Amino acid sequence: MLTDRTAIVTGGSRGIGRAIAVELAKNGANVAIIYAGNEAAANETAETIRALGREARTYKCNVADYDAVKATVSAVTKEMGVPYILVNNAGITRDKLIFSMKEEDYDAVLDTNLKGAFNFIKHCCAGFIKKKEGRIVNIASVAGTMGNPGQANYSASKAGIIGLTKSVAKELAGRGICCNAIAPGFIATDMTSDLPISEDDIKAQIPLGHVGQPEDVARLAAFLCGDGGRYITGEVIRIDGGLAM
Ligand code: NAI
Repeated sequence: MLTDRTAIVTGGSRGIGRAIAVELAKNGANVAIIYAGNEAAANETAETIRALGREARTYKCNVADYDAVKATVSAVTKEMGVPYILVNNAGITRDKLIFSMKEEDYDAVLDTNLKGAFNFIKHCCAGFIKKKEGRIVNIASVAGTMGNPGQANYSASKAGIIGLTKSVAKELAGRGICCNAIAPGFIATDMTSDLPISEDDIKAQIPLGHVGQPEDVARLAAFLCGDGGRYITGEVIRIDGGLAM
């Protein structure tokens, strides 16, 4: 159980992040929900967590903004205690084929998906090191290992997440801190709701024959943050119905 542990979940207002925030709360954690702009959705997630008897607070913060992340981690620490769990989940896509991908499409995706994770790890690690404990879960993607047409920026960011995860895992293992990545395949969220590919074509690529749900990813994240994850670090776990096998 994660009773009274403080967890930070970025992009925790909807989709996979929301499911992770709720699942961690079901396992006893108090959750700081980091959201970009949708205050109503963040508040709804917080209310769901409070209904489970856990503390939840919402923090508006652009994960790509180094100084804003620093201030947010300080505020969480002051109001909720030193975090034990950090889930870097916030992410965006700006899909385009490489010849029409603009510099700003590339920068926006790298800044949010990769630098955002760096920013939170950077500002959380002092607290983890001081307490000689902590769990970091970074949400990567099978696109980071397989590549994907139209997603050069996104795939690069997610491959970067995997390198970041392994380096941080090696650096912090001696301090009792575990750092792992989860690489989902197709999960039913807003991000995948308007893909230029039919549902049947998606299912045909997946050996298990269906897309995953945010709760599938959430249960894995909670496992890594709980007792089951205490001897796992530097790992990248696919959760994709066999897609990238
Ligand atoms: P989503 O679009 O529903 O949620 C993304 C969340 O990130 C939103 O709450 C959004 O507000 C937040 N966010 C985006 N930019 C932000 C910023 N600059 N600062 C703070 N928050 C920001 O997407 P979904 O599907 O829930 O994705 C969650 C993570 O899972 C992402 O990292 C995504 O790349 C990854 N993923 C998703 C897959 C899928 O099939 N849905 C597959 C593989 C990976």
